[in-house]
Amino acid sequence: MRLLVTGGAGFIGSEFVRSLLLSPRTGDVRITVLDKLTYAGVAANLDPVAGHPRYSFVHGDICDADLVDQVMPGHDAVVHFAAESHVDRSISGGRPFVTTNVMGTQVLLEMAKKHRAGRFVHVSTDEVYGSIPSGSWTEETPLSPNSPYAATKAGSDLLALAHHRTHGLDVVVTRCSNNYGPYQFPEKMIPLFVTNLLDGGKVPLYGDGRNVREWLHVSDHCRGVELALRRGRAGSVYHIGGGTELTNAELTGLLLAATGSTWGSVERVPDRKGHDLRYSLDCDRAATELGYAPRVRFEQGLAETVAWYRDNRSWWEPLKRGTARPAGPPAPRAPDTRLPAAAPPGAR
Ligand SMILES: NC(=O)c1ccc[n+]([C@@H]2O[C@H](COP(=O)([O-])OP(=O)(O)OC[C@H]3O[C@@H](n4cnc5c(N)ncnc54)[C@H](O)[C@@H]3O)[C@@H](O)[C@H]2O)c1
Repeated sequence: MRLLVTGGAGFIGSEFVRSLLLSPRTGDVRITVLDKLTYAGVAANLDPVAGHPRYSFVHGDICDADLVDQVMPGHDAVVHFAAESHVDRSISGGRPFVTTNVMGTQVLLEMAKKHRAGRFVHVSTDEVYGSIPSGSWTEETPLSPNSPYAATKAGSDLLALAHHRTHGLDVVVTRCSNNYGPYQFPEKMIPLFVTNLLDGGKVPLYGDGRNVREWLHVSDHCRGVELALRRGRAGSVYHIGGGTELTNAELTGLLLAATGSTWGSVERVPDRKGHDLRYSLDCDRAATELGYAPRVRFEQGLAETVAWYRDNRSWWEPLKRGTARPAGPPAPRAPDTRLPAAAPPGAR
């Protein structure tokens, strides 16, 4: 299977690429990553697969229709992670979110249709549903996004599903809860708090800290996306959740404990505008149809994540300083230095 993975240099996309290429179980998979390397795209995230014989990288924008037209042919499936993903940035300036998340998705869908790319997995978020005080959303719950980020993701979900209904494109949409794990850009809550605390700094807790999020280890998410890719029903939406609900205050307490810090390190900051109170996904469909269940216990996943940030300062310090791309953590396998046989235009 030859996959085009967009946003493969980001947090979740890079885990997906590493996990598929470095596992003997998936020896049939070839991957082309298409990534613009925005501030959130970190080339070093893909160092562990650099030179892999079944991997190639194209530096480019999913909004560039000419480029996508050249890159798409020859792929059996698209796994679409690329997005502007940080809610706070969408509140201070929503335009890049509309451009990449909506227009970029439209370009990919058009080109997937034109080149008969086969399956198109569109990776989305629980935030498209808005906020739920109790109970859980099913895949049939109407979309009611609140932030500009969530609104653009909802728009792209609907475009993807419309391409299935109108054009018969083999689309599957996944919606997941909050991810955590290694290689997450240190603007999101867990890596921001951990890295600030490791440096003896303060952490900003929004409002009263009672907002509830459901946490999902990135490796479980990527396994769910792979299951949706291989077994999902065309035109269906699947929820991929982690099952651990915590208030932001509870999570802060765990991160303080894990880094040997105290509540004196916490600064209460005014609440995020339009801050959703609670997200919660019903994952029965993914369990029944895909055989999905999260495997990583939250306590263990969080401890390992904190340890990873403690051990990989060389990865996150340059990102926090806003300086050049960092050198990646040591690769787990010796890189194969052969170039991919046919690097698409713009590949590097
Ligand atoms: N992180 C989460 O907790 C979470 C939760 C739910 C859903 N999601 C979704 O999962 C996907 C991946 O999220 P993430 O946390 O890995 O995001 P990320 O911000 O870490 O990575 C995004 C990647 O997309 C690339 N990109 C951005 N604009 C691009 C463009 N125009 N063309 C090509 N590449 C571009 C970036 O360079 C980066 O590599 C997103 O679609 C996001 O909406 C994330």
